[in-house]
Amino acid sequence: MTDPRRLEMTVLMTPDMANFSGKVHGGALLNLLDRVAFSCASRFSGRYAVTLSVDQVTFQQPIHVGELVTFRASVNHVGRSSMEIGIRVEAEDIRSRTRRHTNSCYFTMVSVDDDGRPVAAPELKVETPLEIKRNRAAELRRSLRREIVEQLEKTTVHDETG
Ligand SMILES: CC(C)(COP(=O)(O)OP(=O)(O)OC[C@H]1O[C@@H](n2cnc3c(N)ncnc32)[C@H](O)[C@@H]1OP(=O)(O)O)[C@@H](O)C(=O)NCCC(=O)NCCS
Repeated sequence: MTDPRRLEMTVLMTPDMANFSGKVHGGALLNLLDRVAFSCASRFSGRYAVTLSVDQVTFQQPIHVGELVTFRASVNHVGRSSMEIGIRVEAEDIRSRTRRHTNSCYFTMVSVDDDGRPVAAPELKVETPLEIKRNRAAELRRSLRREIVEQLEKTTVHDETG
């Protein structure tokens, strides 16, 4: 049976996804990443999910039109309604069949009811050493996100004129 904590999607990069230099547009990849995160979170929770935030999207290596891109998603952590979905992206040259890891990123998705209100997601079972490692890393990112929000709150200058 398919593990509901994981999802894999492979997409061929087509010319309509290219930017002016012939490489795949960052926005086209973000669109696919968001779909993968939504699908993984929704299937895991058995509910619709909305995107709360995205972390660590860095395009360090270009992806070319004609490559096959595989998105490997896993549920790394579940709070109450929020779920961190980690996505590893690999691009494959079809002719040589060589694969390279182009980037990984982390989406926070929130499980919602039919009215769009947050609802509890199922408990996440973490068993293997890899799952435990990913879970701990996700917890660390969760607390760092909160820390950043708190620190920024202190330094934000609120415009009270408007
Ligand atoms: C996501 C959304 C439903 C959360 O609503 P909310 O009123 O903040 O709900 P809650 O306070 O219950 O928070 C829900 C979860 O999100 C987390 N959360 C909310 N705001 C957060 C923030 N700024 N930073 C980190 N986590 C946050 C909460 O910790 C909670 O997680 P938990 O249940 O695992 O503990 C709401 O913000 C929303 O609808 N956002 C728009 C989503 C959307 O349209 N996405 C597409 C963007 S284009």
